[in-house]
Order: sequence, then C-alpha cells, then structure tokens
Amino acid sequence: VTLDRARSLDAADPLAFARDRFSLPDGLAYLDGNSLGALPRATPAHIADVVERQWGGDLITSWNQHSWIDWPQQVAAKLAPIVGADSSELLIADSTSVCLFKLLVAGLQAQTGRRVILTETGNFPTDNYVMQGIAGLLPGAELRIVARGDLIDAIDDDTAVVSLTHVDYRSGERLDMAAVDRAAHAAGALTVWDLSHSAGALSLDLHSDGCDLAVGCGYKYLNGGPGAPAWLYVAERLQARLTSPISGWMGHADPFAFAGDYRPADGIRKFLTGTPSILALAALDCGLDTFAGVDMAAAESKAKALTGFFVEVIENCCGIDLTSQHVRSRHGSQIVVPHSHGYAVMQALIARGVIGDFRAPDLMRFGFSPLYNRFEDAWSAAVILADLLETGSWDDPRFHARRAVT
Ligand SMILES: Cc1ncc(COP(=O)(O)O)c(C=O)c1O
Repeated sequence: VTLDRARSLDAADPLAFARDRFSLPDGLAYLDGNSLGALPRATPAHIADVVERQWGGDLITSWNQHSWIDWPQQVAAKLAPIVGADSSELLIADSTSVCLFKLLVAGLQAQTGRRVILTETGNFPTDNYVMQGIAGLLPGAELRIVARGDLIDAIDDDTAVVSLTHVDYRSGERLDMAAVDRAAHAAGALTVWDLSHSAGALSLDLHSDGCDLAVGCGYKYLNGGPGAPAWLYVAERLQARLTSPISGWMGHADPFAFAGDYRPADGIRKFLTGTPSILALAALDCGLDTFAGVDMAAAESKAKALTGFFVEVIENCCGIDLTSQHVRSRHGSQIVVPHSHGYAVMQALIARGVIGDFRAPDLMRFGFSPLYNRFEDAWSAAVILADLLETGSWDDPRFHARRAVT
C-alpha cells in the first residue's frame, strides 16, 4: 500500500475542505480526536472576543446583550444537525457524567413501579460509577450489570432504564442501537445512550430513530476544547414526563423571579442546573461550527474508509492481524492495535509525531476524525509503527515511564 494511494484518496475526499478549519501542527499525524478534538482555527479569536469585548467591555450586560443566558440552547442548536435531533431536544451543560446522572435519575423516577438500571460490563467506567452511585442513593433502585451478549435477554418488566455507550471506548465496537431500543421499548423500558464516541464521527438520527435519552462529550469529535461542556438529549415526547433531579435555578421556569420554591421550566431548559460556563461554551460553539456544510452520512463513510485503509496498511506493513476489526462492519471511528508493551510503543509513536493513546492493559488506540484526518495520516502512522516494531526502538526507558494520563 503506497503513499501515492493515500494521496489519491485524500485528493478524492469530499470532506477535505474541512481540514482547513483546524489549526494542526505540520508534520503530525494526530489520531486522538476521539479523546481531544483538534483546535479549530476560529476558536482563539472568538474566545479573545468573548473575553475582551463581551466580558471586558460589556461586563454583566452581556448576559442580555450577547444573549449569554441562551447559549446553552443556542450552541446546542448547532449540534442538532450533527446528531439528527430537533434543537428543542438538546442542551449543552455540565460534564457527561453529570448529564448522565440527571437523565438516569429522571428516567428511573418516571418509570413508576420499575427499579432496575441495566447496563453492561464493558461500558465506560464513569457511566457505571454514576449508576452505582444512583443505586446507592435511591431506595429500591437496583443496578444490574450483565455481559454485552446477554443484554437484550436481560431486559424485563422490572427494567426502568437501559444505559449503554454506543461505541466502545476500548475496542471501538459499535452496539446495535436500534435493536436495543426496540427490545427496551417492547418491554416498557427507556434507554439512555452515551454517544461520546459517536457524535461528530457517525451519522445519527436520534429524533427519527425514536431515541429516548442521550448524552455525550463536547471535547472529542465535537472539537469543543479540553473539558468542554457536555450535551444532553431528551426526546420531545418525554420532556413533560421527566424532571431533573438537580433542581437548580437555571432550570427554574423563571430564575430571575427568585421565587421561594422550585418550579421547572417547560421543555429542555429544565435540565439546566447552574450558571453556564460562557468561555467554555464559546469554544464549543467554534467546535460545532467546524461541521458547517458537512453531511454526516459522508462523514461516516469517510470514517469507515479511513479506518479500513489504516487496518489494511497496518496488516501489510506491521504483519499484525486485525481481521476481527476489519471484517466487523459495525465499529466507530477508531482502531485499536493490541501490543503487550502498547504503552511504551505509543510513547515512541508520539515521539515520532504520531499521536494516539493507550488503554490498559494492551491497546493502542487510533481515532480518526472525518473532518481533519487524511488517508496520509493513516499511512504515516502505520509505516512509523512498522518501523518502531521492526527496529525495536520503542524499547527505551524513556518510553516506559508511566504518566498520569495515558
Ligand atoms: C464513553 C465516555 N463517556 C464519558 C466520558 C467522560 O465523561 P466526562 O465528560 O464526565 O469526563 C468519556 C471520556 O473519555 C467517555 O469515553
């Protein structure tokens, strides 16, 4: 597999225009947009404007003058076409963990007579930690964690909520959302999806597909910056039935009435809690703008082509068999390469300008953003990996030293 082929695939890429929207260092193959999306070119100037002109110049009047108060919904409106939701079903708020807590408790409490939250062992840890916390907090609530293959059969009359991550953060496996939703709905259960590794990489149609509830990160494929606020989705048809368990003033029907008692806002705004983080919202706003004119079906096709090409080059150059991932038609926009010294090999890759990450015990993760990654990135990552493995140059003490974030 040649560099020429990578370049001709890049030349034919209908989304190639989007790469210019990002500020990426030269000579780097950045394959970690599934952890931290790249910096959009527009972000620094927009943040500077919000800081200097809005905050510095207009001070507190900006809440009205620049509609800061509406940004959680206004910014969410830009996410609507990316995930196939109505803007009235989306909100930018908090972190993914906190959004998940809110929706799980809201779902559980709306399901009178049912007490089980069902998930699977391979779910992202924060999701299961949040569920463990809820089971400890709410009298009668029970958390049931089963193997992925047993999920559908485990849904029964006692299941209040099924909560899963759509694309596995380790293997990249993509769960069958429609099948789980069908089984859950047939049994009268609600579903809460964590779409952190899906939104911005895959084509989603939450509204038409009848998705109940969902959350996701703002800092991965959505390019909102480190620690960007998360997003939550509540289907229109469920909004009247569900109540946020964190009844803060920003979710009140009339926050500036300063009434003595909580009265939830109508619609999605009831899921707000405290004062929105305006600077973080400004950065996420630019992250979402990078999707302007991007057809998500084309983005998913490109994700599939990029990951497929990467697997092909890895197999050819490194002699590593990734058949299980290659034949799997259902995966997200990442590929993992197992290696018993994966941490050290990844550090060596980073030193050579190929940035991915590592997930214990032995997985090197390579994430592909359809907006800015090129086939040439996939090619160079695979060729450099092949060289490191062949020469053994990854086996150096400086690559073995573990840092806090892997
Ligand atoms: C699937 C998934 N959910 C949630 C999170 C993190 O959630 P939070 O935004 O609360 O840190 C991650 C982070 O990598 C993730 O991969």
